[in-house]
Amino acid sequence: MSIIVEGLYHIYMKGSPFEKVALKDVNMRIDDGEFVGIIGHTGSGKSTLVQHFNGLLKPSAGKVIINGTDTSEKNLKELRRQVGLVFQYPEHQLFEETVYKEVAFGLVKQGMEEDRIKDRVRWALGMVGLGEEYLEKSPFELSGGQKRRVAIAGVIALKPSILVLDEPAAGLDPKGREEIFSFISNLHATMGITVILVSHSMEDIARLTKRVIVMNKGTVEMDGAPADVFQNAEKLEEIGLSVPQITYLMMKLKKVIPEINEKIFTVAEAKNEIAKYLGGIR
Ligand SMILES: Nc1ncnc2c1ncn2[C@@H]1O[C@H](COP(=O)(O)OP(=O)(O)OP(=O)(O)O)[C@@H](O)[C@H]1O
Ligand SMILES: [Mg+2]
Repeated sequence: MSIIVEGLYHIYMKGSPFEKVALKDVNMRIDDGEFVGIIGHTGSGKSTLVQHFNGLLKPSAGKVIINGTDTSEKNLKELRRQVGLVFQYPEHQLFEETVYKEVAFGLVKQGMEEDRIKDRVRWALGMVGLGEEYLEKSPFELSGGQKRRVAIAGVIALKPSILVLDEPAAGLDPKGREEIFSFISNLHATMGITVILVSHSMEDIARLTKRVIVMNKGTVEMDGAPADVFQNAEKLEEIGLSVPQITYLMMKLKKVIPEINEKIFTVAEAKNEIAKYLGGIR
């Protein structure tokens, strides 16, 4: 089970004066159970890329093969069940009158029997940190972060083997962001599903994933472990990204303390590393 992208091009409005080449010769392979971050400036092609993972967008050239299915095939019903795609601002698509109906929507469409749906909805809501007291509420009485969690629960309820989230924490406050990332990590750890996380935040990607793919102008600019990718601070800046602030500090410190490990991107790690050289810091 894997995602294989080979020589992928995507051209919007081909042949019109507005033609836009959004992806150019993109190649990658993502294996089962990986947790991968995708980062890149606005318009670099992140959303276009991930919408190929469930066949919502078709390649203009090249191939996308998901769990053995070529997405250019006609019948993608099974593939759509295996790949859960959470769009940017998914709460804009909420429309049912209760949280229960909202989360159950995809399961009802699949024809699952009611008893199983009830269990599955409770389970999915639990996964996103919402209890039974939310079942009969209207999604519209919830906070922004809660609405978003309901929308994500509707995707998780289908038990996809690949979960793709496009900027799942955008526009939320730090607490709301933390809630979202904590259940995503938990889902990955406990269910072993493949998670692909599109984010603008280097800090979040570094903290959560073991592999980061950097998109630039429709191509893959870098692909590797965050610690290695962040060593290319200059290149990242050139393409409108920056390494985490704390990594800049560590790089500066390395000029004074050559033995210090600068491949660090969280404040907690930095504190430990700095304490090795300046014992007094606590
Ligand atoms: N439906 C569309 N029709 C025409 N052009 C599009 C369409 N969707 C995206 N584009 C263009 O394709 C390019 C890639 O867009 P895409 O949305 O994939 O970027 P992104 O990396 O997700 O950006 P953001 O960080 O702003 O979400 C951009 O130049 C965008 O303007
Ligand atoms: Mg996008």
